[in-house]
Amino acid sequence: MDRWIAPGRVNLIGEHTDYNDGFVLPIALSLGVVCAAGPTADGRVRLTSAQRPGEVVAVAVDELAAQRDRVPGWARYPLGVVVEFVRRGYPIAGVRLDVDGAVPIGAGLSSSAALCCAVTVALRDLFAPGLTDRAVVEIARAAENEFAGVPTGVLDQSAAILCTAGHALFLDVRAYTAPDGPEPGAVEQIPFDLPAADLALLVADTGHPHDLADGAYAERRAQCEAAAAALGVPALRDVTTAALSRLTDPVLRRRATHVVTENARVLAVVDRLRSGADPRAVGALLTASHRSLRDDFAVSAPALDLAVDAALAAGAHGARLVGGGFGGSVLALVDRAATDRVTARIEAEFAAADLAAPRIFTVEPAAGARRLD
Ligand code: GLA
Repeated sequence: MDRWIAPGRVNLIGEHTDYNDGFVLPIALSLGVVCAAGPTADGRVRLTSAQRPGEVVAVAVDELAAQRDRVPGWARYPLGVVVEFVRRGYPIAGVRLDVDGAVPIGAGLSSSAALCCAVTVALRDLFAPGLTDRAVVEIARAAENEFAGVPTGVLDQSAAILCTAGHALFLDVRAYTAPDGPEPGAVEQIPFDLPAADLALLVADTGHPHDLADGAYAERRAQCEAAAAALGVPALRDVTTAALSRLTDPVLRRRATHVVTENARVLAVVDRLRSGADPRAVGALLTASHRSLRDDFAVSAPALDLAVDAALAAGAHGARLVGGGFGGSVLALVDRAATDRVTARIEAEFAAADLAAPRIFTVEPAAGARRLD
């Protein structure tokens, strides 16, 4: 069987902006999900995972939809991808999928999008070679939204498919998802060379899992929609800071304030990186993003705040929670020489607070999904 890989991601900035038609700036991780796949002719999907030794999920292709509630939760992601290919009219006479994931689960690093995207690029190459990247992103997202039942935006799948090594991906979500196809300028690869600037990006996985299916994420989405409706615009992308005071509901105003200011922060970070300025200059914007996520969007958690504060106290240029929030990981921009000091400080603060040791590692912008052999 041939093999494909799709990476996890960490979002430099632009959190909870994707489903508001806004801007995001992720990088792909070198950690990914590998999918070995090959066509069969027995009318079935046969699925295994290296993380579920001994478990084989086998379902007839034309019974997938009906069997949804009987398959284990993890299997709904890859099977959902098969469902989406069939729904779009690509005949699959049977397929074998063996997946193996190295992205930590529940860490806010998009292990589920990596899984869906690895399977999607495999099925594209096997059954639908003409598919565009945009269609691949849509299939992977639809699998996660519909069959797995997790209401994500398009950030994670776009990152897994479109990111390139050495770059951050600047995505204008409205322009990329335009009904007639991506508009010019929707996607821009922004050079992001950390070693050249003697910098490192640290990810601290707090070990407090986040769960996008638990309702809080969907509630934030609904609040954003309600705020946009109250202001009479299609999405919070269209709102200016001045218009925020027209929101009379204090909760909706705080949620919208986060989205409006976060979009502005993404554009400011992109401007700075484009201009070739010292990337340290974006640190303060990362920290401002965390405060906004904590205070206005209310998606932080004590362990995330602790990791951010510890990183800053040890000299990080900026730090913030990444992904949906409520748990998961923190990102810190640090001088390369300060990596050990910042790591030790976060570990010490977790120990002092009686929290389990976080898993801390450095990341660099890696390549998006591809065939391995
Ligand atoms: C999760 C979702 C994304 C995005 C982020 C928050 O990762 O899957 O679509 O909304 O949260 O930025």
